[in-house]
Amino acid sequence: MTSSEAKVLFIGAGPGAPDLITLRGARALHAADVVMYAGSLVPEAVLEHCRPEVQAVNTAGLNLDEQTGWYERAKQSGWTVARLHSGDPAIYGATAEQMELLRGLGIAYEVIPGVSSFTACAAALGAELTRPEVSQTIIITRGSGRASPVPEKEALGGLAAHGATMCIFLSGRQLETVVSELLAHYPPETPAALVQRVSQPEERSHRAPLGSLLTGLKLSEWALTTMILVGGALGEDLGVTSRLYDPEYAHKFRRAESLPEEAEA
Ligand SMILES: C[S@@+](CC[C@H](N)C(=O)[O-])C[C@H]1O[C@@H](n2cnc3c(N)ncnc32)[C@H](O)[C@@H]1O
Repeated sequence: MTSSEAKVLFIGAGPGAPDLITLRGARALHAADVVMYAGSLVPEAVLEHCRPEVQAVNTAGLNLDEQTGWYERAKQSGWTVARLHSGDPAIYGATAEQMELLRGLGIAYEVIPGVSSFTACAAALGAELTRPEVSQTIIITRGSGRASPVPEKEALGGLAAHGATMCIFLSGRQLETVVSELLAHYPPETPAALVQRVSQPEERSHRAPLGSLLTGLKLSEWALTTMILVGGALGEDLGVTSRLYDPEYAHKFRRAESLPEEAEA
């Protein structure tokens, strides 16, 4: 590719704090001629990585034709366009349809991953989402939405039956429904949390057993940019340990006194 060919970079902005974007993402933002971002999800603070002369386009008010117009202008002018997505672009980013559009327009694109909000929420809670003998599985899902209905076979109740750690996106407006569907499978004492706008100045979190998670909350205040986390793994002082650091357990990076063998964590 020559430098005059247009290119679109899908960049994971991370959960909102400007220093939670990757180095590659920050460098790509700095190189961009145009940055397109959804202002409702990506705080303007992340744009601090752009050059002052960048053309910043908030896509919140643009329909698909208007967005296509920007791509067409980029193609004519040989611009590098940064499409900034909250968290990681691969998760609820509606990036696949943009990529399809770009293929149709003959514009090259590349994806730069980001820190997803669900791992940032785990960090804020000081929690590990996978614990030996408790859960080794994380289910990422969402409540059904008008624009993006969830397939019936992925209904929350069915997923909850696994008892795994669940990270539920895009469901702050459906907290009561979500919690009641979860309670059909998880015991009420299961650790749960809501985390809102993690890593941003307005960040707040609320931890409680699932059965009383919503007690006393003003639900309308948690409607936007909220993650619901649930699962036994979120519990503290569980007293379960992996064998990874057991002195008798060896793997290729550490010799055990009695059991030399290769192993994975
Ligand atoms: C359109 S999805 C985008 C998810 C994003 N691609 C990611 O990997 O985090 C938006 C949803 O992600 C979650 N989310 C995004 N940013 C968040 C944040 N800073 N704090 C808590 N939840 C967040 C919320 O559930 C929100 O409704």
